[in-house]
Amino acid sequence: MANHASGWWIGSDGSGQLTTHFRDDIAFSQMGEGSLTIAVHYSALNYKDALALTGSPGVVRKPPLIPGIDLAGVVEESSDSEIQAGTPVVITGYGYGENRHGGLATRVIAEPQHVIPLPEGLSLQHAATLGTAGITAGLAVNALQSHGITPSSSSLPIAVTGAAGGVGSLALALLKGAGYTTVAITGRTDEADYLSMLGATDVMSRQEFLSQPSRPLQSEQFAGAIDQAGGDMLARILAATASNSVVAACGLAGGSDLPTTVLPFILRGVSLVGINSVFQPPDVRVDLWNGFASANLPLDEIGQIIPLAEALENAPRVLAGLTRGRVVVKVID
Ligand SMILES: NC(=O)c1ccc[n+]([C@@H]2O[C@H](COP(=O)([O-])OP(=O)(O)OC[C@H]3O[C@@H](n4cnc5c(N)ncnc54)[C@H](OP(=O)(O)O)[C@@H]3O)[C@@H](O)[C@H]2O)c1
Repeated sequence: MANHASGWWIGSDGSGQLTTHFRDDIAFSQMGEGSLTIAVHYSALNYKDALALTGSPGVVRKPPLIPGIDLAGVVEESSDSEIQAGTPVVITGYGYGENRHGGLATRVIAEPQHVIPLPEGLSLQHAATLGTAGITAGLAVNALQSHGITPSSSSLPIAVTGAAGGVGSLALALLKGAGYTTVAITGRTDEADYLSMLGATDVMSRQEFLSQPSRPLQSEQFAGAIDQAGGDMLARILAATASNSVVAACGLAGGSDLPTTVLPFILRGVSLVGINSVFQPPDVRVDLWNGFASANLPLDEIGQIIPLAEALENAPRVLAGLTRGRVVVKVID
């Protein structure tokens, strides 16, 4: 077995500025502690990874760091009694690619409590296509269901914002599989065919939705929502959501503020539920991964594959919201 890895390396130039370069000589001794060495087959280019690669200090707090919050690969060496060498596994969250070395390199050193053995029927490529976005979308769908929002509880659709992005695409596909009707709110109505293929019952222009007059309460348009935009979008979604419904807040693609009033909460009983994919107990993750394996999701259509060497040049496209679905990074052939 080789004793070094190749991958992206975020360093520091000594004056506090972060630097990014590709290294072929990362010694395992530089890759942190853990009882598993995993050969990474696929990672992904999440928004956080794009920030890290382009030197945003918000994600990489302590350089040096290999970015990559998601990875799917095969255990190469193990000193753990339960996870054997040869096991295909997936890791999302737990600080990989943020405060410990992540998946945008050919090897990662990991802790056994952070890995999920891949369920039967899910390939490594599909696991990375799902990744953090899949866990986030799955948690959001669970939040709707656990608050009693079911396909038959209302004739109104579930709104999904940022619909052509990673979380949005997977939320649409999971909602379709669970029998919900949905409206995809998107800045890219030219992706209407893709959104319909994922399961969107209707497609709404983000610009048109945001240009409606802003009132604390709008007519009731949605039985619930999965929002990854935050900001004005989330405020308007809250105002247009039906009585006793649930809005799952997943992201901040449109802003981290929330210019709303208490009226949706106290006059309509709307619940705002926060979704955090990073720290979830293993049993919740295992249930989600088992559900994904049997869900027959259109993952080949959602994932756009790029080679590891092209991760940096694709990062600005991710930050500009120009990529569709999930950017999956092929790490080892
Ligand atoms: N809570 C968690 O644990 C968690 C996990 C994963 C991701 N996130 C967050 O969720 C968000 C989406 O992640 P992602 O992986 O889906 O990213 P992504 O693939 O880059 O998708 C983001 C989508 O947001 C939409 N968008 C872009 N600019 C917007 C704006 N100004 N206002 C409203 N929508 C805008 C675009 O979709 P359209 O073109 O269709 O409009 C874009 O494709 C990010 O903020 C990310 O940090 C949170």
